[in-house]
Amino acid sequence: MKNIKRRDFLKMSGVALAASTLPISMVKVAFGKTEAEDFTFAYISDSHITHIKGNKFVRNWDRGLERAVAETNLMDPKPDFVFYGGDIAQLGKPEEIDHGLEILSGLKAKTHYVMGEHDYYVDLGDYWKKQLGPDHYSFDHKGVHFVVLNSILTYEKWMHKKWETGMHRMKQMARLDNPTGQPFMVGDKQLKWLKDDLSGISHDTPVIVFSHSPLQKIHRGWNFWTEDAEQVQDLLKPFDKVNVLYGHVHQIQTNQIGNISFNAAMATAWPWPYPSTYKQVATYLPKLTVEMNRADPFFERDATGWQFINMDTGRVDVSYVLPNNENRVVGYDEKSGHAIEKQSNNNQPAKKHY
Ligand SMILES: [Fe+2]
Ligand SMILES: [Fe+2]
Repeated sequence: MKNIKRRDFLKMSGVALAASTLPISMVKVAFGKTEAEDFTFAYISDSHITHIKGNKFVRNWDRGLERAVAETNLMDPKPDFVFYGGDIAQLGKPEEIDHGLEILSGLKAKTHYVMGEHDYYVDLGDYWKKQLGPDHYSFDHKGVHFVVLNSILTYEKWMHKKWETGMHRMKQMARLDNPTGQPFMVGDKQLKWLKDDLSGISHDTPVIVFSHSPLQKIHRGWNFWTEDAEQVQDLLKPFDKVNVLYGHVHQIQTNQIGNISFNAAMATAWPWPYPSTYKQVATYLPKLTVEMNRADPFFERDATGWQFINMDTGRVDVSYVLPNNENRVVGYDEKSGHAIEKQSNNNQPAKKHY
């Protein structure tokens, strides 16, 4: 595995390098905020810890998460905090959530959590919330406003209908291409909360929103989709610099919709194929998506990896560290007004391998 080196990390953008060597006033210009500083955070997602029985768990998924924790602790510069993007568990069992949290407790930095559907549908998030607290919240850090949403809710009627057991409901939601499955959504209650939360934030404040599912519509059959995505986007429209970071899709996706940059996290568990390779139904894979070269789709670590996020300009640059593949950096480009692949040593052109 090619570890990211400090030199490479700082090379991601000229501003990051400048911020590390020039007086803080230079950074102030970038942010327009006196309290702002450049900083980094780490982002780990989709571990799908799977309980077998007793104290046995699927070892590969444990190892993916253990490795992510070890890598994060070795980061230089050290992250201000870590975000966990959801799907700690495979079937939402307390054993799985506890085992995942036990591994994540090895992180030296504070960790913020996002709810995934695999954490939620067995008991509608009760155990997760008992261990981790609210599923939507916000905070400010060095001049940036962070918002966490639970984007994997669905129609109340479906969630609360008379299920034989919570596990039946979970298995319905965990299935791909399930004709009786339901679309994910943020829901009216959180939309109202988000509107209130953002009402006190000045429009030049950089905003980062974390969700589990993409707050855009890509592929409905796999719920690479949030039904009320446009309503969330509308609330984010007045801000100059908005970044949405999401998990769930287990692959690199990058998109720009108006003022909003979207970046996806890879999984520590397994990679999903790109929905564009799935021909039966329409998919809306973002144009800017950097499709990973999957040299060996039967090797589950091929196209899983880590992301380190640099926030020097109020836009995120995501550095993807890809075991057995070339590391890549994607981020917002001021000149073109959208995200681009900023640095790639990629000698293998992205192509489909399924
Ligand atoms: Fe997942
Ligand atoms: Fe998910």
